[in-house]
Amino acid sequence: MKIDILTLFPSMFYGVLGSSILKRAISKDHIQVNLIDIRDHSNDKHNKVDDYPYGGGAGMVMKPEPIFNVFDELNKTPGYFRDQKTIFMTPQGKKYSQKKAQELSQLDRITILCGHYEGVDERVRDNLVDEELSIGDFVLTGGELPAMVIMDSVVRLLPGVLGDEASAQADSFNDYLLEHPHYTRPAIFRGTDVPKVLLSGNHAQIDRWRKKESLKRTLTRRPDLLENVKLNDFEKKLLEELKQQDNI
Ligand SMILES: C[S@@+](CC[C@H](N)C(=O)[O-])C[C@H]1O[C@@H](n2cnc3c(N)ncnc32)[C@H](O)[C@@H]1O
Repeated sequence: MKIDILTLFPSMFYGVLGSSILKRAISKDHIQVNLIDIRDHSNDKHNKVDDYPYGGGAGMVMKPEPIFNVFDELNKTPGYFRDQKTIFMTPQGKKYSQKKAQELSQLDRITILCGHYEGVDERVRDNLVDEELSIGDFVLTGGELPAMVIMDSVVRLLPGVLGDEASAQADSFNDYLLEHPHYTRPAIFRGTDVPKVLLSGNHAQIDRWRKKESLKRTLTRRPDLLENVKLNDFEKKLLEELKQQDNI
């Protein structure tokens, strides 16, 4: 997958691209990340990228020319339009979700535009952007952190990127349930035992325990997720058992 990032602060990405899964995904050629400094594409002799808002008011607005100039360049790249999407990060966008991460992971190429100041000139949004995404109902200083969130969550879904494919599959939200608790060695830590079933070696029992804990977590922390989920008969039975327990 190719990922183009349009930003005024490319150096913010160095840490995240140089560590952990993203670093490995780049070195194994699963992804190619193209950090584009919008400032380099300004027509202004001082590389100005923002200006005062028409009509007055507080803050500055990112000018359209440098961003359009970047897209003029990108459009010259052979095959740029094939299976690609341009995303603008904004708190006004559709709330990002695991489902959207899965959808984006199917594309060949994504282009992410990071806003700053009060945001971008509306003509950029109208003419260059396919989709607007928000990472939550709060306002950050820029779109760089949200772009990193998108990149990380999408890249870990690409085939071969995670060491153990099953681990992305079992993550919370992939089947609309929160994931079950995890334990590692030692079996007793500061007086607290690991649940016995996990030490039993009985995989059917372990799977049952995990599914039940997953349902319990979802029921107690995110009951809204259960409204849209189609449970199978086994899961329905476990859920009924849980609902009958007093402490749930
Ligand atoms: C200070 S914010 C601008 C907010 C804008 N004035 C508004 O009210 O919608 C600057 C930039 O940060 C990014 N940003 C801030 N919060 C975000 C969020 N929750 N999700 C995605 N992007 C966000 C956007 O790219 C935005 O253009």
